[in-house]
Amino acid sequence: MSYETIQVEIHGGAGLVRLHRPEALNALNARLIDELDQALTAFEADERIGCHVLTGSEKAFAAGADIKEMQAKSFADAYLGDFISRWECVARLRKPIIAAVSGYALGGGCELAMMCDFIIASETAQFGQPEIKLGVIPGAGGTQRLTRAIGKAKAMDLCLTGRFMGAEEAERAGLVARVVPEEQLFAEAIKAAQIVAGMSLPAAMTAKEAVDRAYESTLAEGVKFERRAFYALFATEDQKEGMAAFIEKRRPKFKNR
Ligand code: HXC
Repeated sequence: MSYETIQVEIHGGAGLVRLHRPEALNALNARLIDELDQALTAFEADERIGCHVLTGSEKAFAAGADIKEMQAKSFADAYLGDFISRWECVARLRKPIIAAVSGYALGGGCELAMMCDFIIASETAQFGQPEIKLGVIPGAGGTQRLTRAIGKAKAMDLCLTGRFMGAEEAERAGLVARVVPEEQLFAEAIKAAQIVAGMSLPAAMTAKEAVDRAYESTLAEGVKFERRAFYALFATEDQKEGMAAFIEKRRPKFKNR
């Protein structure tokens, strides 16, 4: 499959999608979101892939939704067309997905990164929700996911002033899982994805679902969900294999069953 606005590669168990609109700092237009959906849907169905990686260029993960495409929309165009619903293709993934962010991750770019399960950033990464400077607000979950990730004080600061936050501050605030030098970003993200892909896929998918549940429920409900999911994993061959491998002091060979 060949795409115009993204590039797709497979590295072992890691399925990589690279956003590729260099002329517009990877601004997210309808075509790109469409292609991203197609590529990720194909990876979800591909038995070789255990974890997705979403990345951009050195200069920009993505500088936001495409302002030139949005500018002329009326309320009816936006509301009835509901173009942002297409972006949910990232948040709906069941396999884990890692965002590898270098350069600008602004507006919809920051929102797309936050839809991923965790973010590995290069030292050059800049996060922000500058929509306020355009006379609008974040529309793909920014006010919600950013607030849950870094708390009200910093989320308000970013959403109201539109200022950018560097990688070090983003890691301190809890938005980013790891920060690495720019030249190591790709290798670090692929290595992390391959580690995840080497796990039992049912266990990795269940872990993702359980951590996500923390956002959607009370502590008591979340703990109950986790316990049920934990017990359910005893029905897998991979649980028998994982525990046997530990006892026999060898590496497990998971079959994703
Ligand atoms: C369309 C964009 C763009 C965007 C950059 N470009 N960001 N085009 N939409 N979001 C284009 C520029 O128009 C320019 O094209 C080229 O990319 C290079 O950008 P420059 O501005 O010349 O680069 P630079 O001076 O280095 O500044 C980089 C920047 C700036 C600070 C990232 O481009 C910027 O502020 N971009 C907009 C960031 C933003 O407001 N994002 C939020 C968008 S709203 P030409 O043709 O002139 O060379 C949003 C809402 C999401 O995301 C809600 C859900 C859908």
